[in-house]
Amino acid sequence: MSIRFDEQTGIFKLDTDKLTYALGVFGPGYLTHLYFGPPVPDTDLRYLLYRGWFDSLSPYAPGVEDPLFSLDINPLEYPANGAGDFRISALSVRNADGNSVTDLRYTGYTVTRGKPALPGLPAAFAAEDEAETLTLHLEDPVTGVRVQLLYTVFAEAGVLTRSARIENAGAAPVVLERAYSACFDLPTMNFDLVHLWGKWAKENTTARDPLMHGRQGIRSRRGMTGPNHNPFLALAAKDATEDTGEVYGFQLVYSGNFALDLETDTRGCPRVLVGIDPEDFRWLLEPGESFTTPEAVAVFSDQGLGGMSRTFHRFYRNHLMRSPWAKKKRPLLINSWEAAYFDFDGDKLVAFAREAKELGIDLLVMDDGWFGDRFDDHRALGDWQVNEAKLGGTLKQLVDRVNALGVQFGIWYEPEMINPDSDLYRAHPDWAVCAPGREKSLSRHQCVLDMTRRDVRDYLFGEMTRVLSSANIAYIKWDCNRNLSEAASLQLPPERQGEFFHRYVLGVYDLMDRITRAFPHILLENCSSGGGRFDPGMLYFSPQIWGSDNTDPIERLTIQFGASLCYPISAIGAHVSANPRTGIETRGNVALCGTFGYELDPGKLTPAEKAAVKEQVAAYHRYYDLIHEGDFYRLTAPTEDPFLCDWEFVSPDRSEVLFTRVVMRRPDNFYQPRRLKGLDPDKFYTDETTGQVYSGALLMHAGLDLSLAFGRLPQDGASLTRHLVAR
Ligand code: GLA
Repeated sequence: MSIRFDEQTGIFKLDTDKLTYALGVFGPGYLTHLYFGPPVPDTDLRYLLYRGWFDSLSPYAPGVEDPLFSLDINPLEYPANGAGDFRISALSVRNADGNSVTDLRYTGYTVTRGKPALPGLPAAFAAEDEAETLTLHLEDPVTGVRVQLLYTVFAEAGVLTRSARIENAGAAPVVLERAYSACFDLPTMNFDLVHLWGKWAKENTTARDPLMHGRQGIRSRRGMTGPNHNPFLALAAKDATEDTGEVYGFQLVYSGNFALDLETDTRGCPRVLVGIDPEDFRWLLEPGESFTTPEAVAVFSDQGLGGMSRTFHRFYRNHLMRSPWAKKKRPLLINSWEAAYFDFDGDKLVAFAREAKELGIDLLVMDDGWFGDRFDDHRALGDWQVNEAKLGGTLKQLVDRVNALGVQFGIWYEPEMINPDSDLYRAHPDWAVCAPGREKSLSRHQCVLDMTRRDVRDYLFGEMTRVLSSANIAYIKWDCNRNLSEAASLQLPPERQGEFFHRYVLGVYDLMDRITRAFPHILLENCSSGGGRFDPGMLYFSPQIWGSDNTDPIERLTIQFGASLCYPISAIGAHVSANPRTGIETRGNVALCGTFGYELDPGKLTPAEKAAVKEQVAAYHRYYDLIHEGDFYRLTAPTEDPFLCDWEFVSPDRSEVLFTRVVMRRPDNFYQPRRLKGLDPDKFYTDETTGQVYSGALLMHAGLDLSLAFGRLPQDGASLTRHLVAR
């Protein structure tokens, strides 16, 4: 890993063993993009700036009379609005004189070891010897707007992070109308766009579409990430597969309105912009004020989509998930929701815990319904006082009873929400988000609290702290079950209402930061009606996120495989539920491709199911390190193959493999061996089920023998695992 500046050529080169990123200073201070791709040793990359003569209608760049240089064609690192680049600009500033022209010129740079934090925002971190950061300084001489561009490269290969800080160093106020975190211009449109779409109960479905001329974008305007689109996109070379070919992956470490926008110009050069969605975004900068964008993560893989995913996984595990639970062994939990919904009391929970303990489960989560008069989803959100009548005593008494059985205790919260039928609403109707004079729209009978307000956050922190300190709480499920509408804050002046959405997200981060710092031992899991806020911003605070309210094991395959494009398996919340679509074995095998846990009434399990659960619990412990630290390989794609879904974990030293197959529908030919991936060709692996020994080379080239594994005919919904160990 290194960052070098060549005074002679004016070129900055950022190198890791997996990628090179290069940019240069051209003419009167234009910071131009040169290269992003596999490592190259060259230092003089100036020719890469040129994309041929420009067309007669294109303006010269201000201050440059060069027929080969126009901002209409040549790529800038952080293009601003109005100076001759007609594509989507990364920055648009409404100046005091009313126009939105900005022309940024390079003024200097600094290189530092490590990775700076971003104020108020989740962001990647690294020790001083793990990363290096380049800060480039730019300024618009007319308005005094200054921009700092931050680039960090990580020793751990294949990853670059970027963000921008915009400062008003002029004498008059300005308004940011668009401030992306990063812009990437690529020289060819020979790519497909890979992205994740969905809805409630169908999150993170993978799609691969051709790149087209013009604009395309992956966005959310829900105030939150939402299940509809994920803040992720990849450009995969047309010939790139799961295992081969060049792929660029992009994500935004953010949990609010995001935009991953694409514009492909008529020369066939795509531009990728990653940042806050500019629609509904305005940010007033008084003189001396600054604005920091969230962080963009860019990954380069020459090993197809699989290589990209494994790079994201390692990077997030080591440099984004800041919870101590990212590395510590997590408790195996059972959640009360699908077992009881709102219909529980203290005794029922203790009975769950007793049964769970018998099965080897470590932690019981008391889901929605423990506070205020919350007997259904119509009321009481905001009244975070324990309903002692329902629990049959204080929270401490209940938790002590559960702990006495050897089971830890977790609790559900939905801190950002408020029901109109709640004591909190009756006391503070102005705390609910609403535009003045308008009726509030309800969703699941609830409104959203104005998280931009410090007094709201202080109330929540106070109430949560009181409850969390009153008993031995080991886990929180932080839910969020509606998106934002009538978005405005009664506390913001009219000229700052455009800041509402971003301030909302900053407010959520502030509360999450305070809670996780005050209770660092608590394992935090995020949830948003399932996987509706599955994003890297949340991953920073919570090392696991509930994947979906859909616990059907076959549909879960598409959801979990999609999420695995960029999120580590150890982050994908997955439970065995009472869903009858398959036997309990397959439900267990699918949940093992995630955090693993249970979402059912353990008292209703048959003796045979209890025996199966005990085996699953043993498998959870046996394969924990392999699943949490190992490399994940998607061997088939459930969005493409309707029959078999196969995957594999390989330990970092390649001495251990866990293979899983789920038969979604019986295929015509189920005898064929499955070729494995990522093994050591020279090692000899023993299949612990059959005793058969194979070289890694044989397993990768001929495949694992599964011809008799399911008997004469596999049933729809059947599954198996194979553990192979090299000795
Ligand atoms: C959401 C979550 C569920 C459950 C309920 C409780 O729907 O996704 O898992 O916690 O809320 O109301």
